[in-house]
Amino acid sequence: MITKTSMKTHYNETLSIKNINETVTLAGWVSAVRDLGGIIFVELRDKTGYFQLVADPQINPTVHKVFSGLKDEYVIQVTGKVTKRPPETYNASLATGEIEIYPEHVEIFSEAKLLPFELSSEDTKEDIRLKYRYLDIRRPNMVKNLKLRHDIVRAIRNYMNESDFMEIETPILINTTPEGARDYLVPSRVQEGKFYALPQSPQIFKQLLMVGGLEKYYQIARCFRDEDLRADRQPEFTQVDIEMSFVNQEDIINLTEGLLKEAFKAAGVEINPPFERITWQEAMDRFGSDKPDARFGLELFDISDILLESTFEPVKETLKNGGIAKAIKIPGIAGYSRKEMDDVRAMAISFGAKGLAWITYMEDGTIKSPILKFLTEEQITTLQKRADAKPGDIVFFVADNPKTTYDVMGRFRLFFGQKLNLIDENKHALLWVVDFPMFEFSQEFNKVQAMHHPFTSPNLEDLDKMETEPLKCRSIAYDIVYNGTELGGGSVRIHSSEVQQKVFKVLGLTEEEVEQKFGFMLTAFQYGTPPHAGLAIGLDRLVALLAKQTSIREVIAFPKNSAAKCLMTNAPALVSEEQLRELHLKSTVKAPIH
Ligand code: AMO
Ligand code: AMP
Repeated sequence: MITKTSMKTHYNETLSIKNINETVTLAGWVSAVRDLGGIIFVELRDKTGYFQLVADPQINPTVHKVFSGLKDEYVIQVTGKVTKRPPETYNASLATGEIEIYPEHVEIFSEAKLLPFELSSEDTKEDIRLKYRYLDIRRPNMVKNLKLRHDIVRAIRNYMNESDFMEIETPILINTTPEGARDYLVPSRVQEGKFYALPQSPQIFKQLLMVGGLEKYYQIARCFRDEDLRADRQPEFTQVDIEMSFVNQEDIINLTEGLLKEAFKAAGVEINPPFERITWQEAMDRFGSDKPDARFGLELFDISDILLESTFEPVKETLKNGGIAKAIKIPGIAGYSRKEMDDVRAMAISFGAKGLAWITYMEDGTIKSPILKFLTEEQITTLQKRADAKPGDIVFFVADNPKTTYDVMGRFRLFFGQKLNLIDENKHALLWVVDFPMFEFSQEFNKVQAMHHPFTSPNLEDLDKMETEPLKCRSIAYDIVYNGTELGGGSVRIHSSEVQQKVFKVLGLTEEEVEQKFGFMLTAFQYGTPPHAGLAIGLDRLVALLAKQTSIREVIAFPKNSAAKCLMTNAPALVSEEQLRELHLKSTVKAPIH
């Protein structure tokens, strides 16, 4: 094992009291200079941490002279004997807090300009941090995050290798993958007018590796998706991508639970699989979300039956037309002012609700509500019982189409969970959501789409419904959810070309389109395809959550900002006319002349 270089014998934090009297050579960055008039203290930083250097003009005037010219972030090398600090100067917050060096020799490798921001500051604007990311990475927090990422990846690789998986790279220049986002396209120079797409995931290739007989594949794979960015989304991100043959859902779940146990352990967190499993329908009904945060209660309940019997006509109309009514009880807020209630209502509307109704259980035992007039005494009692509402509580409800109702109430639940401090930040709530619907209706594109991706197997019990009632057909797809974030997802795949063709038909693809896009895959499936299944975990999300960071940008060395831009290199950029011409492209945006 190589532990030193020709320019340093040790890394700072590998030294301890055991090295007393050893002559060592250290190198790194000056992170602080304290000139006490005579003696100068320099804090030297390297990739491992800090070390204290001292220059005393009485002991070594040459070194002292060099030290007196040092500024923050200069890169230096020192040689000297490790000595014990006087006990009264021990620094318990430093791993090397009991030792120091009075260098016999110092060399400046490079000077540094004044940095554009203080490395020690915790509130530097993110834009500045990203523009000078190489400096930002010098901050101990960033080092810690990247180190954690490395440790987690190592634990994952160990686990997968020990479980007999082979790590295989799949191509980056491919045809479009049907994962549901927009593709990044790369024009071909040699094939005029044609484009590659960057993979949204290795999905197709990993399935073809199963046809290829490899049985157990994994890859730490870069994926590219041109979608609207949020804190937990980047245009390029990393998946722990897995596929196995001769397995069912159970095998993938077991493997993933073992993998997560190891990954969490690498972050110092003990988790105990098996994790709870709930169906997609149950997740929606109880939490209004397919990625429920199970660290707190505030579960939703259904009151459609009660309202259907009421005289609340517009709501009844909604319910008769396939709508549902979901309610949530928020404890202890009956004292909300008119303004606070208006804000809550405005929030529901901003989430997409047409209206929000509430029933307030006053501390004095009375009940107040703008909708009491529509309910009988009996209905009011039934509702209160179902809510288990006590004086001080408010029950809110929304009646709308299922999608809107779940969405609004799910967000409502999260809002109050946070507002009322119900979320225990030390909890690790992992659960599986299973039995996802096979298809969903996309309002945006006005057509039926695959909820996971079109290679997902329908639940065999629902096969007969696939063509007649596709939206009622369940799939064998599963997601792993951690504290309300979708960490990963996967499915059992279709391994018969007939079933695959049927799915394409439901998705409205013509035979020509199928042939053109997936012909090679259907052909492959005709040469002996094992039953197979897999899953992909979002590595960035996993690391960010374990590092307790709210954005995945904190655990990516060089992330893009929310406009998909790299603030350091300024990518994406205009290119020259010449480059465009070679690629047989014309831009409608005028490029600057190069
Ligand atoms: P899916 O699309 O669910 O499945 O992606 C798997 C996981 O990848 C992470 N992820 C992202 N992370 C950061 N930025 C993004 N833009 C982004 N998009 C997705 C999420 C998500 O759970 N091929 C299938 C897997 C399979 O069926 O085996 C797939 O890609 O954590
Ligand atoms: P109205 O009698 O129309 O004023 O409605 C009484 C209350 O019911 C108001 O607070 C509305 O915001 C609320 N409301 C109206 N439509 C809905 C709905 N679809 N779901 C929940 N509440 C609603």
